[in-house]
Amino acid sequence: MTVQIIKGNCLEILPTLEPESFDLVLTYCPYGSTSLPWDRWQTGWPAAARRVLTRTGSMWVFGTTKMFFERAGEFSGWTMAQDVVWEKHNGSGFQADRFRRVHEIACQFYRDDAPWADIYKCPQFTNDATARQVRRKRRPAHTGHIDTGHYVSVDGGPRLARSVMYVRSEHGRAEHPTQKPLGIVEPLLLYSCPPGGLVLDCFAGSGTTGILAERHGRNSVLIEADDEFFEMANRRIGSDGFKFPVPA
Ligand SMILES: C[S@@+](CC[C@H](N)C(=O)[O-])C[C@H]1O[C@@H](n2cnc3c(N)ncnc32)[C@H](O)[C@@H]1O
Repeated sequence: MTVQIIKGNCLEILPTLEPESFDLVLTYCPYGSTSLPWDRWQTGWPAAARRVLTRTGSMWVFGTTKMFFERAGEFSGWTMAQDVVWEKHNGSGFQADRFRRVHEIACQFYRDDAPWADIYKCPQFTNDATARQVRRKRRPAHTGHIDTGHYVSVDGGPRLARSVMYVRSEHGRAEHPTQKPLGIVEPLLLYSCPPGGLVLDCFAGSGTTGILAERHGRNSVLIEADDEFFEMANRRIGSDGFKFPVPA
């Protein structure tokens, strides 16, 4: 598996990448939720990412409902498929006059020139159903037959993974100020990128997407503008990375 880490501004790098070459875009874009100097919305990035996505691919973006509303125009050319909620053990950016915020969302988009039926997806399952459940039998059409009982015991078995996922945040142990836990990115990657496929994270930070891609047999390209975070991603992934422009 290859992990290619490119240092530079994704708005400059994305137009140089081959069109329709990625199976998945999986990223946590900056949108001004903190006072960190790099945390600024990068105008035009969703369109630049769309250009490099295959017609059967999709894109997951972490953010907030407020951000997606405010930046809705930037997502023209995309159809929204679904969202998942990441429930954290703690929260961030508390405001005393609102609810204590302990979640983030990630939205999945696909190209608006493709039908959902064509988009790659591999539904995820959990074994969180109780091992055996007792279910009430459906009342049969009246036949005169008297049933022996109204309840049946069945195996719980695997169930579709829930759209609300509890994963401990990296608070207190992260290297990057907004580092995502592997556990919340992993199911999105497995759901949306075929084995051996190619995933892009255009705001790579500490390289979380690349770590998981390598672990699960997917190739990846990561783009990070900041020197320190570029080194951090390389260190975490154990790669040397590339400076932009990428050497031929
Ligand atoms: C929200 S963080 C990503 C954190 C990452 N998901 C992780 O788990 O570590 C966004 C990253 O985008 C980078 N960034 C901001 N603007 C950029 C740009 N135009 N091109 C590439 N990277 C950029 C920032 O330096 C920051 O590391």
